[in-house]
Amino acid sequence: MKKVTINTLRKMKQAGERITMLTAYDATFARLLDRAGTDVLLVGDSLGMVVQGHETTLPVTMDQMVYHCAAVKRGVQHAHLVGDLPFGSYQGTPDEAVKNAVRLVAEGGCESVKLEGGAEYAEEVKRIVRAGVPVMGHIGLTPQSVHKLGGYVLQGRTEERAQQLFADAKALEAAGCYALILEMMPSELSAEISQALSIPVIGIGAGAGCDGQVLVIYDLLGLNPDFSPRFVKKYLDLGMLISEAVRSYNDEVRHGAFPGPEHSFSVEREPAKSAPVLQLYSSVK
Ligand code: KIV
Repeated sequence: MKKVTINTLRKMKQAGERITMLTAYDATFARLLDRAGTDVLLVGDSLGMVVQGHETTLPVTMDQMVYHCAAVKRGVQHAHLVGDLPFGSYQGTPDEAVKNAVRLVAEGGCESVKLEGGAEYAEEVKRIVRAGVPVMGHIGLTPQSVHKLGGYVLQGRTEERAQQLFADAKALEAAGCYALILEMMPSELSAEISQALSIPVIGIGAGAGCDGQVLVIYDLLGLNPDFSPRFVKKYLDLGMLISEAVRSYNDEVRHGAFPGPEHSFSVEREPAKSAPVLQLYSSVK
């Protein structure tokens, strides 16, 4: 499979080919999602919620993002790799935004960065792009502004707010974003924005009219039984399968059924019968 770049994504939009994007937080998942042909992998700051167990994405730090990006990078060969700029890493000054974007690329191995916010971040986008780092925008429900938005609620419901989101999308494109995420907004609005922009628009909770879709991988796999929002389709109930597997393991260990002879080593069955124990271990590794 050929490496996906920002040029591939632009061509996909031009050809009307839908873009697939998922989050990944470690090398094992990244390898699986990459080998399954996912176009874009995002090391999202959603890791603060699904990996670290926080209630919001706000506590995630730059060092943590760099750590997870580097882990994901080791599992990726084909997909385009995007790293999320966490809360506080780009809202201060454009200089800080550039410094932190560069860290995600230089230390984390990312090929582009994502930041949340509209026209008010045009300057930061320009500066990061000027430094040689492609930027993906993110508007609509921007989880880093959860307190300002008053919760994780649908955006763009009034004419005024819809117009503002449309203007934000245009401003981010003009500032140099190579792609844009639209989160939690009416399908009509996201379809209109997608048609008006020449860069790829990827939706989450934004309907089918976007150029691509993104989901948090833990949601798609059904890893959290307590989280079933309308915009998520659970392709698997992995949470239940994991619970069943672990219950069987616990049961078998407690009843002595695991490990069986087929999972055990025996001096009797090894060819080098008289070998010292350490040598035997190295021969059966
Ligand atoms: O952090 C994240 O995972 C995201 C996606 C949901 C778009 O921003």
